[in-house]
Amino acid sequence: MSLLPTTSVAALAKHVGQTVTLAGWIYHKTEKGKLVFLQLRDGTATVQCVVFKKNVSAEAFATAQQLTQEAACRITGSVRADERAPGGFELDVAEVALVGGSSDYPISPKEHGVEFLMEHRHLWVRSARQHALLRVRAEVMAASQEWLNAQGFVRFDTPILTATAAEGTSNLFATEYFDLGTAYLAQTGQLYVEAGMMSFGKVYCFGPTFRAEKSKTRRHLTEFWMLEPEVAFATHADNLVLQEQFISAIVQRVLERRRADLEVLERDTTVLERCLPPFPRITYDAALQLIAERQGEVEGATPLAWGEDFGAPHEQLIASQFDRPVFVEKYPAAIKAFYMQPDAERPELALCADLLAPEGYGEIIGGSQRIHDVELLERRIVEHGLKLEDYRWYLDLRRYGSVPHSGFGMGIERVVAWLTGTRHIRETIPFPRMLYRIYP
Ligand code: 4AD
Ligand code: MG
Repeated sequence: MSLLPTTSVAALAKHVGQTVTLAGWIYHKTEKGKLVFLQLRDGTATVQCVVFKKNVSAEAFATAQQLTQEAACRITGSVRADERAPGGFELDVAEVALVGGSSDYPISPKEHGVEFLMEHRHLWVRSARQHALLRVRAEVMAASQEWLNAQGFVRFDTPILTATAAEGTSNLFATEYFDLGTAYLAQTGQLYVEAGMMSFGKVYCFGPTFRAEKSKTRRHLTEFWMLEPEVAFATHADNLVLQEQFISAIVQRVLERRRADLEVLERDTTVLERCLPPFPRITYDAALQLIAERQGEVEGATPLAWGEDFGAPHEQLIASQFDRPVFVEKYPAAIKAFYMQPDAERPELALCADLLAPEGYGEIIGGSQRIHDVELLERRIVEHGLKLEDYRWYLDLRRYGSVPHSGFGMGIERVVAWLTGTRHIRETIPFPRMLYRIYP
């Protein structure tokens, strides 16, 4: 015997006039004399199920009356089209069976503080807003991979336990690794995906990455998901073209397939519709000048000396000058990672770019052309205070058929926060890991 439903709420349109069995959880219940109205949520959508006393057994009616918020049940009934019903359908119930009871569900329709909701994240993921957010997240992940696969990229998985740093040494999570010393949780898959690039030409890795960030901002998690494409023979300019096509394809697909979720989230989609290539490009130098001239427009966007990195207010000010995502390119090499190729005309600059999302959502992509010359790379490793010995294999990639190559990393949570208009990144991942949170 199976307990599976015969169809899902989202598929009811195909079953008008038929008898179906749904299985899910009670979102809401109201009673009116001989009628019980059950809002049933099955993960695909919600439908109103009407239990009329004279249509069901006395036992089934009593069960319906006793159902509480989030009780799990199976409901059989016939599907009726109803223009007034949200979703366009209702179920005229013939049978109700309780599967799992639920008493005193902690999250009620009233307002709760975010700390309370975060403590109950394992239950909070059931509510309509969180459900919509996480659906968009799943769409972004699927869209990214499917787009890359269609362009001939090969997924190449990189390790999480690693022996070295790639994005600075100040934010590493360390753990004992048997007799081999200290291992670190990967801050990026990039170094390894570069090895894959030399094998396949076009690759990407996708998985959780870790940064022991002691910052408590609305954009930082200590565990986040990053998707990192890497392309052989691609220059910095090629890299930007790939990124704008990639981002725009993801945005268009979310608009196409997850419009109902964006509606639940009350997202203004006009900014997203405009997100088509080419994206504007501005250099770090020009951005500094822009900040000096327009500092008054965003609080905290104080002028910077050359060589200083942008803070969130600076990124917000730069992004506010454009109607779609903007590339800030050619940062001072000194404030970027060791592996970035210097600009031939001005070696103090790196051939890199950050892609800033509109509306103050900040950097969603960081990318660069990589150093392909073995001697230069060795120099940079030493200058960054890293041990050459640890990067033996990475340097090998520059010894055997080295080619100019470029790639980038897109943070899934930052992209989802922007697409869904969610201020804080903590709601864009099922179980956020932050400086002050590791439960649930
Ligand atoms: O700019 P980042 O540090 O770049 C890299 O790690 C490169 N190795 C990527 C590459 O070229 N293959 O990180 C890339 C992106 C950021 O733009 C941001 O979207 C996200 O990863 N990110 C974070 N997201 C959430 N919490 C954090 N602490 C993040 N740090 C970076
Ligand atoms: Mg970055």
